[in-house]
Amino acid sequence: MLPDCIVIVGAGQAAAHAADTLRRKGFAGKLTIVGDEPWLPYQRPPLSKKYLAGAMERERLLLRPAQFYETRSVDVRLRRRVERISRSEQRVRLDDGSTLPYDALLIATGCRPRPLGVPGVDLEGVHYLRTLTDVERLRAGMSAGTRLVIVGGGYIGLEVAATARQLGLDVTVLELADRLMSRVVSPQVSAFYATEHGHRGVRIVCNAKVRALEAGRGARRVCTVVTEDGARYPADVVVIGVGVQPADELASAAGLACENGIVVDDRCRTSDPAIYAAGDCTSHPSAHYGRRLRLESVDNAVEQAASAALNLLGIDTVHDKVPWFWSDQYDLKLIIVGIGQGCDSVVLRGDPASRAFSCCYLQGGELCAIDTVNRAQDQMAGRKLIAARAHPDLDKLADPNVPLRETC
Ligand code: NAI
Repeated sequence: MLPDCIVIVGAGQAAAHAADTLRRKGFAGKLTIVGDEPWLPYQRPPLSKKYLAGAMERERLLLRPAQFYETRSVDVRLRRRVERISRSEQRVRLDDGSTLPYDALLIATGCRPRPLGVPGVDLEGVHYLRTLTDVERLRAGMSAGTRLVIVGGGYIGLEVAATARQLGLDVTVLELADRLMSRVVSPQVSAFYATEHGHRGVRIVCNAKVRALEAGRGARRVCTVVTEDGARYPADVVVIGVGVQPADELASAAGLACENGIVVDDRCRTSDPAIYAAGDCTSHPSAHYGRRLRLESVDNAVEQAASAALNLLGIDTVHDKVPWFWSDQYDLKLIIVGIGQGCDSVVLRGDPASRAFSCCYLQGGELCAIDTVNRAQDQMAGRKLIAARAHPDLDKLADPNVPLRETC
């Protein structure tokens, strides 16, 4: 039976897209979004880039204007948390004590920053970066000459480093691993980004394990970051970007299967047939990669939201696209297509020194992922070859003058 009443928990990218899809596909029942932030669903990618730089208005972050929700009768409850899901009664309880009944529930709670478990993380001047509110606080403390120490050399760390350098801050990045962005890219791409940041004056320190953040005597504000080897880094502001955790507590407390995120099938259904989940908070099966994936990306949030919405309306829709991700740092556009972790070889297309190259990841000769840096022409072709499980000719692949689609 199709639902008459749908509640979406979370008010991020997946929630907005699901609501839009539901209404566009003719869902005329009651539709409610509950989100604990004070803002209508907004884009997160600009937060570490243009918005942090002060080069974008807050209104422009909104995924859809307020009018969109009004005209489509989407009841958006902001500054409200869902505290409990009662599956037997098919209702959710909010933090103001009210309850909302549902025929179908969509959980789109996203991720939250992984805490850095060292003394001093609660000092003034120490920031995580996930929400618009986080960025507004951080931005207030960023001016030319400010000494910024960033803990974590992943997406957040490096995008913030690039933005901050462009604003004239003094920037140090402390990365635990032996190279930057090791979760997502090959050593070749890591080395390229280390060089680029170095050229722009960012101090990159790898193998750096933070032991504590310290304030000056009698003060509450951070002034030093201390690492295990005893090195001390003066800091006016600290940004922590050491990864995220799926926000799956609500689902888990309701007894839904969770394992590195809310377990969903390829139609975004959880272990309860009345409950779906989409976006960063989920772990889904990938037929292409033959394992479960939890993806932290806008593309995945949008794809899963669409799939969940359509399946909720009885339109059978499998979610199994080749994923993609991007990162903008300075004038460098990194686009990652597919999942390269676990591959057995890497082939470079082009010289990183030219600042336009690609890095191809293969497993048993099959192309499983590609990173492109300022080489967008490889992106679309790469996506098709990956989806087709292509086995490119390695010599042609290594020749940047051979179009990627002609390497097979
Ligand atoms: P991340 O997983 O990309 O990077 C975290 C980095 O912190 C890793 O390099 C890791 O080795 C390092 N690390 C872990 N523990 C550490 C420690 N104790 N000390 C120093 N370094 C440590 O996660 P990040 O950068 O926090 O970003 C979180 C999420 O935000 C991303 O996964 C993504 O969903 C989103 N995001 C995406 C962007 C994009 O796609 N362009 C941009 C910004 C954020």
